[in-house]
Formats: sequence, C-alpha cells, structure tokens
Amino acid sequence: MEKIIIESLYVIYKEIVETVALENFNAQFDRNEVVAIAGPSGSGKTSLLSCIGGVLKPTSGRILIDGHDITKLSDDELVKYRRDQVGLIYQDFNLIDEFSIFENIALPMLIAKKAKSEIDERVNELLEALDIQRYVKTFPNYLSGGEKQRVAIAVALANNPDIILADEPTGNLDLASRENIINSLIKNCKELNKALIIATHDPFIMEKVDRVINLPKLIR
Ligand SMILES: Nc1ncnc2c1ncn2[C@@H]1O[C@H](COP(=O)(O)OP(=O)(O)O)[C@@H](O)[C@H]1O
Ligand SMILES: [Mg+2]
Repeated sequence: MEKIIIESLYVIYKEIVETVALENFNAQFDRNEVVAIAGPSGSGKTSLLSCIGGVLKPTSGRILIDGHDITKLSDDELVKYRRDQVGLIYQDFNLIDEFSIFENIALPMLIAKKAKSEIDERVNELLEALDIQRYVKTFPNYLSGGEKQRVAIAVALANNPDIILADEPTGNLDLASRENIINSLIKNCKELNKALIIATHDPFIMEKVDRVINLPKLIR
C-alpha cells in the first residue's frame, strides 16, 4: 500500500434526527506518514476512521487504497480488507479479558489461518518490540492502562497491515504512560513503514506527528 486518497466523503446518520458527521472531506495519506485527525468531540473523527477501516460505509464519496475504492467492495472483500490491511487501536483497548496476552495477540493471526510456528514467532517479535515480554502469560485485567494499550498495539500490528488507525489511543491513560505509548506506537509504525492515522485531541500527540488535519465541528 502506498497511498490512501479520500474524495468528497460524506457520512450522514439518518436516525430520528439527521446528523451530518462528515461533509465533503478530502485528504491524502502516504505510507510511512503519521497523521493526527484533530477536532472537538462530535466532529466526525471516529466516523472517518471507521470509513477508512472498512467498518462503516460512507453515505457518499470515495476511499481509494492504491486506486481501489473500498466503498465499492463486497462484504467478503471487506472482511479480507479489514483482516489483512487494517489494524485498529481504540481508547478502551478492546482486549479479550478471558484470553491471555499471548492469545490476544495471536487471535488476528488465527483468524487469518496462519501456521502455528509463524504465530509463535510473530507474537514473540511483537512482545519484544513493545517491551511486554513479561506479560505473555498474564491476562488483560492484571495490566495497567499503558500496558493494555501496548498489547492493543501488538494486536493491531499482528497481521502486518499497512494501515494503522488509532481512535483516541491515549484517552484512558495517565500522563506518564501517554508519552511512552505514543512514542512506541509512532516508532513501531515508522520502522515498519505503515500509514498511521490517529484521531485525537491530545496536544502531546499533535506535537509528535508529521501532520495534523483539523475537522471542524459542523453546526446545523
Ligand atoms: N451510529 C451513529 N448514529 C447516529 N449518529 C451518530 C452515530 N455515530 C456518530 N454519530 C454522530 O455523528 C457525529 C460525529 O460523531 P463521531 O464520528 O463519533 O465524532 P468524534 O469521534 O469526533 O467525537 C456526532 O454528532 C455523533 O453524535
Ligand atoms: Mg470519537
């Protein structure tokens, strides 16, 4: 993957009232680039990441991944796209409490039907890259917020996707671990040559990224 191009993207939720979350959004993201999506609560950050991640179908517009419009993919193709090309990181970590740290990180690779030897090797590599080797047999509930977020980053990187999307990844972290996690996330994505897109209003993150895109709060 070299380039993500977003053209005239609209997300309009049609519930009891109609909400325009994104209005004619345009942007381009390159491989090996770290971009923050900033904007107040309700400005459409999560909606935008969900569209890029293939989790939400936009109302209109195009999302071109190396020229292929993912808004036109069939359900089966979308499953594959999400599994192979996208890693998602959330504010509340989204780990499975009943699974050990090893199992949490292995899960995306099990779903992708990777061989056991390959999975073992990759989990160990990720544990080391994120400096969480000592937790391999532990369960998420025994970890601090910062440690859980490290595991969540490992899960997102597991299948070696080109696109990493992080939705307010420091929202539930204290100041000290916030800095650590962001440094580690950016370092890992740069080293592995990923496109990293972070939705945030954390000023520390804005300072660290290559570029900030500001979403206005739409008033209507
Ligand atoms: N599933 C949904 N149904 C209806 N409205 C939604 C839904 N998700 C988000 N919205 C609305 O869309 C707007 C943008 O939300 P969101 O993308 O979550 O913004 P942010 O992540 O920047 O807070 C908000 O007004 C929100 O209430
Ligand atoms: Mg959000």
